[in-house]
Amino acid sequence: MIVCVCNNISERQIRRAVDRGVATMPQLREELGVGTCCGKCHSCAKTVLRESLEERSLESQPVFAAAIAA
Ligand code: FES
Repeated sequence: MIVCVCNNISERQIRRAVDRGVATMPQLREELGVGTCCGKCHSCAKTVLRESLEERSLESQPVFAAAIAA
């Protein structure tokens, strides 16, 4: 799904950016250019960023990691 139409940035690209260490909207803006044109994508990009960070947080918890490995 395309999140930022102006810069053609997909949800997948945002998730990959989080994998590389991006953790805030300013970092995401600098890394991918999300929201640097019309700004209408800001809310959606923020949601994808938050969800990606939550997923990474869950994956790093030992109990969760054991559950998904089983
Ligand atoms: S849709 Fe992202 S800046 Fe316009």
